[in-house]
Amino acid sequence: MTRHFLLDTDLSPAEQAEVLALASELKKEPYSRSTFAGSGAGRQTVAVIFDKTSTRTRVSFATGIADLGGAPLIFGAGDSQLGHKESIADTAKVLERMVAGIVWRTYAQAGLEEMAANSSVPVINALSDDYHPCQLLADLLTIQEHKGTLAGLTMTYLGDAANNMANSYLLAGVTAGMHVRVAGPEGYLPDAAVIAAANTRAAETGGSVLITTDAAAACAGADVLATDTWVSMGQEDEKAARLELFKDYALDDDALKQAAPDAIVLHCLPAYRGYEISASAIDGPQSVVWDEAENRLHAQKALLVWLVEQSAKEAAPVAQ
Ligand code: CP
Ligand code: NVA
Repeated sequence: MTRHFLLDTDLSPAEQAEVLALASELKKEPYSRSTFAGSGAGRQTVAVIFDKTSTRTRVSFATGIADLGGAPLIFGAGDSQLGHKESIADTAKVLERMVAGIVWRTYAQAGLEEMAANSSVPVINALSDDYHPCQLLADLLTIQEHKGTLAGLTMTYLGDAANNMANSYLLAGVTAGMHVRVAGPEGYLPDAAVIAAANTRAAETGGSVLITTDAAAACAGADVLATDTWVSMGQEDEKAARLELFKDYALDDDALKQAAPDAIVLHCLPAYRGYEISASAIDGPQSVVWDEAENRLHAQKALLVWLVEQSAKEAAPVAQ
């Protein structure tokens, strides 16, 4: 069975831990794996498609695929037939004949599902409107590095609690056995289906879920504080209203005062100082955002290696 990574719960708790352990290994020994090295090792090219802009995701996948001996083929939806002249399914059926994997940043989660349903090579969500699971692998790696553990820690996300990052913090956090608190204004909280999935995962791992409109209560004693832009890609027209809507949910000095004294600060970037995060928080001593950005590279390399190897294992005939 081909393994895809379309949302955080596509990895079981044990699988997520395996990927994070491999990421730590690859951070120490960056060139120790040659998953895409060609000449006998299999396919070399990985397609990386962007329907939205990107700095970190683009550079980390390009670098990571090259580190693994592969060739990243990066293109925008506008440079190909995808989405206007050709369906997602037909695109998948062509790409699967040539490449080792498909990494895609797009809008609708349903598009990623259609790509995966028609692809015999792994499909990776490089951000959709609903989830940003690669970012969360990097975030968890960063937390593990700074705190020594994940299970049992309290992680609070503040701000636009209905966006892709909020959903991924919830699902990936509870998969790691964390206590995840998400705070945002009424009407901008996670969907019931995401909360239900997070609660199901939390019941397996000993994690927990708290959804609230009370920012101070969400921050109280937290080990990790995280936020994200209040204006996600595609929402630019709503900017003025959104800046007003989320103003009581900033990750600032007040939030830091509520949290544990040794709390760390995460932001997936790009960040807008003075809106969702204060300069004092993102540029202060508790911030680990540059480690977090670097960890996109290590986490995604581990994910690529793991998905390719696991897909091959699951396709192999069961020994008699
Ligand atoms: N955090 C993140 O995904 O950054 P980019 O949009 O620059 O890829
Ligand atoms: N929520 C943001 C994340 C950017 C990495 C967006 O979708 O634009």
